[in-house]
Amino acid sequence: MATPSARASCPLLLLPSPPPACPSILATKRTQRRRRILSCRAAVRFDRRDVLAGLTGVAAGELGAHPGLAAAEDASVVSCPRGETVTDKLLACQEAGQKPCPPTPAATAAAVDFTPPTSPMRVRQPAHLADAETVKKYRQALAAMRALPDSDPRSFASQAAIHQAYCDGHYRYGGPAAASKDDAPFDVHFSWIFAPWHRMYIYFYERILGGLIGDDAFALPYWNWDAPAGMAMPAIFKDAGSPLYDANRDPAHLGAYVNLDILNTGDTVIPFDPQAVQNNQVVQNNLCTLYVQMMRNKKAQDFLGDKFCAEYPSTVSSGTSGSLESMAHTSVHIWAGDPGSSTVGNDGQEHTGADMGFLGTAGRDPVFYSHHANVDRLWHLWATKLGRSNFDDPEWLDTSFVFYDEKPQLVRVRVRDVLDAAALRYSYDDREPLRWMDARPTPLLPKGTAAATTRRSLLRGAAPAPAFPLTLTPGQSVEVPSVPMPPRAQKTPAAGGGTQPDTVLVFDRIEFEPGRSGKFDVVINVPPEQAAAAGPRYSEYAGSFATLPRGGNRSGETAVVALVLPLDEVLADIGVGDEDGAVNVVIVPRTQGIKIIRPPRIEIRER
Ligand code: C2O
Repeated sequence: MATPSARASCPLLLLPSPPPACPSILATKRTQRRRRILSCRAAVRFDRRDVLAGLTGVAAGELGAHPGLAAAEDASVVSCPRGETVTDKLLACQEAGQKPCPPTPAATAAAVDFTPPTSPMRVRQPAHLADAETVKKYRQALAAMRALPDSDPRSFASQAAIHQAYCDGHYRYGGPAAASKDDAPFDVHFSWIFAPWHRMYIYFYERILGGLIGDDAFALPYWNWDAPAGMAMPAIFKDAGSPLYDANRDPAHLGAYVNLDILNTGDTVIPFDPQAVQNNQVVQNNLCTLYVQMMRNKKAQDFLGDKFCAEYPSTVSSGTSGSLESMAHTSVHIWAGDPGSSTVGNDGQEHTGADMGFLGTAGRDPVFYSHHANVDRLWHLWATKLGRSNFDDPEWLDTSFVFYDEKPQLVRVRVRDVLDAAALRYSYDDREPLRWMDARPTPLLPKGTAAATTRRSLLRGAAPAPAFPLTLTPGQSVEVPSVPMPPRAQKTPAAGGGTQPDTVLVFDRIEFEPGRSGKFDVVINVPPEQAAAAGPRYSEYAGSFATLPRGGNRSGETAVVALVLPLDEVLADIGVGDEDGAVNVVIVPRTQGIKIIRPPRIEIRER
């Protein structure tokens, strides 16, 4: 098992001098460094899989004795310390012909830079409370959008294809335009790109709809699934005669409460009655899920996802998803899609869950845009009402994408252009109270017991540590005993009055098949036989890894990402202190086949 001390936040500094075989490892230019590390790796003839497999069980201290491994290892951890600025110039469509990679390079060359709109304020209303006028306009506008020929970039088919292209792995990062032969699958999920890209996408979708009915104040209703009265498929989407309807939805869920933890708690179907919204188990669980997602994830990298890095060729590896993406958002996709459907993806494989539950088809269901309006609203609330700070890294702020507006004119828009909803001339009508703000989880085990369990297991030598890589099987919770906690005395306030250091649990390599949905939960200090019950309602729940299936990857491409979970509130709420020295981390698999390459570790994070 890697020793935590040797794997602190800046491992590059801890490595021995660069081995002679890789002289350029310390090259200062990031892009150069990345390429050279990759060629260095080629020189020592490690295939990425060999590297991942070969590294298992190699203690960090031994890496110095294996220069090739050290270089490859380093490439995965620090080759991208600042993240990468993604622009359309660095993206290359990997397919031709009928496959969706809009827009054409000629159109992109003619894109204009975004300028803030001067239109009246568009006030987005909760879908379950939207006024009749708004609903009528949305029906008219969507009917007009559906009537456009597919070749029109404003058509519903084109809008849905945008999501398929960017979210289903149809672009490669570093194509010919990038003058680089690095060629990695690109996906706007699993990194800090997730929130701003989806904000841009629904913003232009809304503008196009308004344009089609000549109303520049038209506002997209949002699916208010974070309020009990909104925890169902909104009625406006259920009328089979309406352009807002989509047939590919889970029939069992059309009249049920939304379950924001569907892969966790199983398919709990409780009939939803809009006249008598209950305070049932599902509602409670949903509110606690939102509490964890919104309140516990205070730092930008925890909430929005971490830096985008294109590192490994032949994998999907961009970064780490934040709680905004991996929690309620992912569950709603899976909850809404039809598990009985089957779609052949661009990978030639069959995928279930269309439309919402498969990234290749999600944009074909109109409810998708209202779902993402709520995701966008939660980001907006986090940054405004909850007072959290977005990233200030130029690599994030200058990341840009192109979208068609209502004219249709192709517009190049940067992340820094979309951080203020008011400047984009839209706002959210927040009529429902934010009940999740007070839904703080409570301990499953009586306080004190948890800490005592750890002490006991430490004393008796604990259960044997599981072997890594670990392949997960539902029903088989895995306890990683006695994961050391760096003493909190090491927590020094950040220089310059910056953010406080915090304790995080890190899984740095999770491998999964991108074509399937996947999930596991992480709980702290609960006996493994009770761990499956310790969902978001309980303080012991530290968070989850979750992914939606996508279909654009090349055959054999595996996805590798990290998972970082903030731990301070969990430890405080279950009564674990410095004197405990360690915690037991229990991994609760919810789907089959995810591979955790290396054991989790606890770090004090400065930033
Ligand atoms: Cu790009 Cu909710 O998906």
